[in-house]
Amino acid sequence: MSYENIIIRKENNIATVSLNRPKSLNALNSELVAELDRAFDELSADSETRVVVITGEKNFAAGADITNMVELTPEEARDFAFSDTYDKIANCPKPVIAAIEGFALGGGMELALSCDFRIAAPNAKMGFPEITLGIFPGAGGTQRLPRLVGLPKAKRLIFTGAIIRGEEALACGLVDGLADNPLEETMSFALELAAKPAVALKLAKECINLAADADIKTGIAYEASNWARLFATSDQKEGMRAFIEKRKPEFAGK
Ligand code: CAA
Repeated sequence: MSYENIIIRKENNIATVSLNRPKSLNALNSELVAELDRAFDELSADSETRVVVITGEKNFAAGADITNMVELTPEEARDFAFSDTYDKIANCPKPVIAAIEGFALGGGMELALSCDFRIAAPNAKMGFPEITLGIFPGAGGTQRLPRLVGLPKAKRLIFTGAIIRGEEALACGLVDGLADNPLEETMSFALELAAKPAVALKLAKECINLAADADIKTGIAYEASNWARLFATSDQKEGMRAFIEKRKPEFAGK
């Protein structure tokens, strides 16, 4: 499949999706987000891809493209919203990691929030400046941010539009790792995850995602069902046999 606003590289069972509108600091327009949507359909179905990394050279993304938004009507704004694509990324059946350099603002930071992990450069500049434009984050930010950093910190970031850097972002849970070279660090983490049993990762992710929304009784019933399904996988047999035979397991992803 061909893409104009993103670049996809595949190596060692890891697909790296690079946002590619460098002149506007990777501002996210509808075309780019539509390509992300297609890419995640493709990568979710691709049996060779076990982990997805989202990144952007020099900058992650400075938010939704403001030039496309100025004259939107409420109806058009509803269509412009990126939430469906970001939900698709959040529910991707494979681990998704954001490697963040430079700016990750507004819809850019919300894209990172829809990933399972965020690894940032210490001097990355992250936040939700939408309030300074007369709006607020509209691509999952008001829902995913409080789940990560708690209500008061989420309100502080969204109400003020403050831009924060690595250490503060790490301390409040906005990112979960810092590295001078975030892409390199992300790739080594991705390699580690790519060697794990893929079905167990997928079903664990479903359960953990549900934990943020469901009551505990529903969540535990869902967990029991997904856990039992793993005993139909060859990776479960391999993992347990390897333990008994005192060798390293080799997971086939099935
Ligand atoms: N939309 C459109 N263009 C953008 C952009 C954006 N979000 N962010 C940067 N650009 C463009 C600039 O207009 C500029 O283009 P020109 O060279 O053609 O003038 C180019 O990228 C470089 O940017 P700057 O010259 O401004 O670079 P800087 O280093 O001086 O400032 C910045 C960087 C602080 C990130 C500044 O560009 C900025 O404030 N950008 C907007 C950030 C923002 O408000 N993001 C939220 C958008 S709303 C949103 O995301 C809604 C949502 O929830 C979905």
